[in-house]
Amino acid sequence: MNKALRRAVIAGNWKMNKTPGEAAELMEQLKPLCEGAGCGVVVCAPFVDLHAVLEAAQGTGIGVGAQNCHWEQSGAFTGEISAPMLASMGVQYVIIGHSERRQYFGETDATVNRRVRAALAGGLTVILCVGEVLTQREQGVTCELVGMQTKIALGGVAPEELKNVIIAYEPVWAIGTGRTATAEQANEVCRAIRGTVSSLYGAAAGDAMTIQYGGSMNAGNAAELLAQPDVDGGLIGGASLKPADFAAIIAAAGK
Ligand code: 13P
Repeated sequence: MNKALRRAVIAGNWKMNKTPGEAAELMEQLKPLCEGAGCGVVVCAPFVDLHAVLEAAQGTGIGVGAQNCHWEQSGAFTGEISAPMLASMGVQYVIIGHSERRQYFGETDATVNRRVRAALAGGLTVILCVGEVLTQREQGVTCELVGMQTKIALGGVAPEELKNVIIAYEPVWAIGTGRTATAEQANEVCRAIRGTVSSLYGAAAGDAMTIQYGGSMNAGNAAELLAQPDVDGGLIGGASLKPADFAAIIAAAGK
């Protein structure tokens, strides 16, 4: 399948930034800039901002996502939020397995898998994050490692659920560092992930999977990264908080 037939998605990951008031303000700035986007646009906001962001996004075509969800629907899990809670608000997307969750909050491939399955069962579209740390890249295990992360995360996911999965390749060494993977490095790993999906679900499923790159993507480097044959959009941290930069990335993806 041709890259042009896949849906490119630019998703902003606001991480732990913006109060509800600030989130509403940022959305008002983003809205006119996102009109007529030639790709899918999603913003993933902190839980407390979701109400304001959903309200602002109404009628705009901008998708709204959370940054995590729990694997149970409800219960004694203090501080957690479940997929049905998010879906009932109107949230459509959720990031699962971000490296910051893995690094700082004990997220493992096994818990990522549980969260992915719960999110899909709850009707959300998952943005599944995978990626290597610098020593793993230096040891030459990137593609194997990312393949393994992908395989474990998708364990128990039915073929018909894959249309609600986006995979984001985010090399940990490129996140928030200003150090971006080269376009070749990004494409090589995105292609390897596509190969993993194909090996699990068949070539058509691999061809159809939207695979994003994330890690210091910005207005200056987006065009080259997004032009790669296996890179179908981006998961954007810092630059997603700057309306003009986010808009420039969206424009680059729409080309
Ligand atoms: P930066 O774009 O700030 O490097 O963050 C990338 C990221 O982690 C998106 O999830």
